This record gives sequence, structure tokens and C-alpha cells, in this order.
Amino acid sequence: MTTKWRGTVRPLIVGNWKMNGLVDDGRDLAAGIGRLARARAPLPADVMVCPPFPLLPIIADALGEAPISLGAQDCHQADRGAHTGDVSARLLADLGCAAVILGHSERRSDHHEVDLLVSEKAAAARAAGLTAIVCVGESEAERDAGAALDVVSRQLAGSLPAQCGGAEVIIAYEPVWAIGTGRTPTAEQIHAMHSHIRAELARLRHAAATIRILYGGSVRAGNAADLLSVPNVNGALVGGASLDPEGFLAIALDAG
Ligand code: PGA
Repeated sequence: MTTKWRGTVRPLIVGNWKMNGLVDDGRDLAAGIGRLARARAPLPADVMVCPPFPLLPIIADALGEAPISLGAQDCHQADRGAHTGDVSARLLADLGCAAVILGHSERRSDHHEVDLLVSEKAAAARAAGLTAIVCVGESEAERDAGAALDVVSRQLAGSLPAQCGGAEVIIAYEPVWAIGTGRTPTAEQIHAMHSHIRAELARLRHAAATIRILYGGSVRAGNAADLLSVPNVNGALVGGASLDPEGFLAIALDAG
């Protein structure tokens, strides 16, 4: 695929570190990404890393002046209070986060998160000045049943607060069957889904043209250029491949 989509929004590459790494690993990873990013600046895409909660201040420090922003992997829907083990969006903002991943399929399955809760968390993120990266995506059974578009429509309708624009929300389309499996949808399947998401955002009265729609699920340096060339793909949410500085930066460079 040779045609690159040049939309009105700058591409964004987000590294989702999930529950990986100890303190030194995180510091080394951030320092490596930061060093490569400074060497290749200006980057053709915005780049963000989302480490586990306790690493946030350490990673902020390790990134230093590198052109990389910081995000978190979840937040609570309440502003503050008696919620043992949870973290508020306001604290994340105070720690220097620009965004928070919400409704990831691993949280939907591990913690039984449903669309309504995701929309409440997205509202809390908005109130704290964070951008919510809201994840949607169908299971393999749902795709096989021909229900992928409907499932994602339902997730979008239920998981977003009213009238969002690009500063408030980013959508990450992550088919559950592509996460961590090495399998990806075809370019045609991604094109169809991302166009559908853009149309649904408009139908739901969000500022659709300003909202970035990321693709996630087995993105790596070897397939990023093709995936990022698909119309309406405005970046990537990267899991496993974000744990290697060279591979992760290569994905960001492919976004240009
Ligand atoms: P993966 O994960 O890149 O390892 O497939 C993506 C994600 O879950 O965000």
C-alpha cells in the first residue's frame, strides 16, 4: 500500500506497557525511547508511553526533555474518596499525564468493566483535563457472526460522554482477537471499521473530524507502515512492541 492518508490530525503512537517491567526496566526503556526520539526529532507523529501507575513519576523523570508524552492505563470514575486501590484522573494529571487509556479489552474482561463505567471514567478524565483513549473492538466470535460493526457502534454509544472533540477523546479500535496474537485484520477490514467509527462519531454528535482513531492489536515495526497507511487510521496503540525502544520508535517513524 503506497497512499498515505494525510488528514487534519497529527498521527499518535501510544505505547501500552501493560503490567510489564520493574523499576529499572521502566527507567531503561523510557531513557532508550527518549534518546532515540531526541535523535530523530522532529518526529512525524506524537508519541506517548503509558507505564504502570507506580512508574509514572520515574518515567516522567527518565523522559526528561524528550518529545514524548505520558499516559496512564486506567483511572477511577470518582474525583476522590474511599476507593481502595484505585487512582483518580486528577492525580494522573497532577503527575504529568496527558491521557489515560480506558475500557481496554483486558480491563473489560479482567475487571468486568462495562460501557457505562467506561463513559463515567471518560467524564472523570475530561474533568481532570486528560484525554481519554477509549478502546473498542469485537471478539473473534462477534466478527465471525458478522456483528463487528454493530458491537463497536454499541460500545461507542455507551462508552463516551456527550459531545467530545479531539482534546477530550481518542478512539482505539482493538479487535480482541488481534491483541497479543500476531494476527491483524486486513487493510480492508480496518478501513471499513475506521470509516464506520468516524461516521458513528458524527452521528453521535461528537466533533468527529478532530478525533483521532488509532488501530491496536499486534502492531509492530514490520507491519506498521501498511496499517498506518489505511485511510482514517490516525495512529496506533501498541502493546508488546512498545517494550523495545528501537521497534517502538520505528513504528512512530513509519507514521510520517
Ligand atoms: P499488542 O497489544 O500490541 O501486544 O497486540 C495492543 C494492546 O492491547 O493495546
